Amino acid sequence: MISSKDTEKMIKKGIILAGGAGTRMSPLTKAVNKQLLPIYDKPLIFYPLSILMLSKIKNILIIVNKGQINHYKKLIPNGKNLGLNITYKEQDKPRGLPDAFILGEKFIGKDDVAMILGDNFFYGQGLSENLKKCIKLKSGAKIFLHKVTNPQSFGVAKVDKRNKILKIVEKPKKYISNLAVTGLYFFDNNVVKYAKSLKPSKRNELEIIDLLNIYKKKNKLSAEYIGRGGAWLDTGTLEDYYKTSTFVYAVQNRQGLKIACLEEIALLNKWINKNYVKKQIKFYGNCSYSNYLKRIIKSSV
Ligand code: G1P
Repeated sequence: MISSKDTEKMIKKGIILAGGAGTRMSPLTKAVNKQLLPIYDKPLIFYPLSILMLSKIKNILIIVNKGQINHYKKLIPNGKNLGLNITYKEQDKPRGLPDAFILGEKFIGKDDVAMILGDNFFYGQGLSENLKKCIKLKSGAKIFLHKVTNPQSFGVAKVDKRNKILKIVEKPKKYISNLAVTGLYFFDNNVVKYAKSLKPSKRNELEIIDLLNIYKKKNKLSAEYIGRGGAWLDTGTLEDYYKTSTFVYAVQNRQGLKIACLEEIALLNKWINKNYVKKQIKFYGNCSYSNYLKRIIKSSV
C-alpha cells in the first residue's frame, strides 16, 4: 500500500523537450514543428505526453521552438480537459538537452522532475508499471535502456551483471554495448544545479550524457529496461517516422485500441469524467479519433 508519505515523494512534474529545428525532415518541418506532424492518426507530441500521463505526472512544461507556442496551443491549450496543467516555454535556439532544466528552473522549483524528448516513442507491456516505479525515485537519476542494433546513433550505457552502470558515452564510434539510453529520464532536484555547471561540447551544445555522468560519478545513476516485447522508436528521420506510423497502425488495427489516446489515459487515471471527453469530441470534430472517444464513453461505467 502507498502511504501518503510516499505519495509526497513521487515525481510530480515533467518536461517535454519539443524544440529542435527538424532539419533532417525539411521541407516538412519548414512551417510545422516536427512534434506536430502525424504518427499515423495523432500528432507526434501525443505519444511522449501519454508517457508522462502514464507516469501519473500532471504538471507538464512543454519546451518548443521560438514562435511556435501558438501552434501547440491550438492543439493543447492548457491541458485542462485532460486533467493536466500544461505550460509552454520557448527555446530560442537548440542548446542541447540539459538546457531544458535551465529553461525550466522556475517550473521545477524545489521538486524532482522527469524529462522526455518530444520525438521519442515508447510502447510495451509492463511499461506503466515500470514508470510508476521510476516516479518513486528518492534521489539521483534514472535512465531507461533499450537494446538496439545501431548503438553508434545514441547515448550508450555499459552495465555489469548486477545492473551497475559502468560507462555511459554519447554516440560511441567504438562498440561498448548495444544498450541505448532512451530519451526518458528521471532526476532529483540537483539536476538544475548540475545542468548549469555543464560546459558546451565540441558541437557547442550541453550534452545529456555529461549531465548523467555527474550522477554516475556520485554513484547516483540507475537504469530501468524496456523489455524484449517493448518498443522504443526514435523519430529522428523520415524513415523512422514511417516505421513508427506503421507500427502504430498495425497495433491499433489489430487490437482496436489506440496508443496514446490522451483522454482515455486521463479517464483511467480518474483525472477527468465523461463530460470532459465530450468537450474533447466537440473540439476535435468529426474524425476517427472522436469516434474512438465516443466508444470509450459508452463502454466506461
Ligand atoms: C539524444 C541524446 C542521446 C539519446 C537520444 C535518444 O540524441 O543525445 O543520448 O540516446 O537523444 O533519442 P539526438 O537525438 O540528439 O541525436
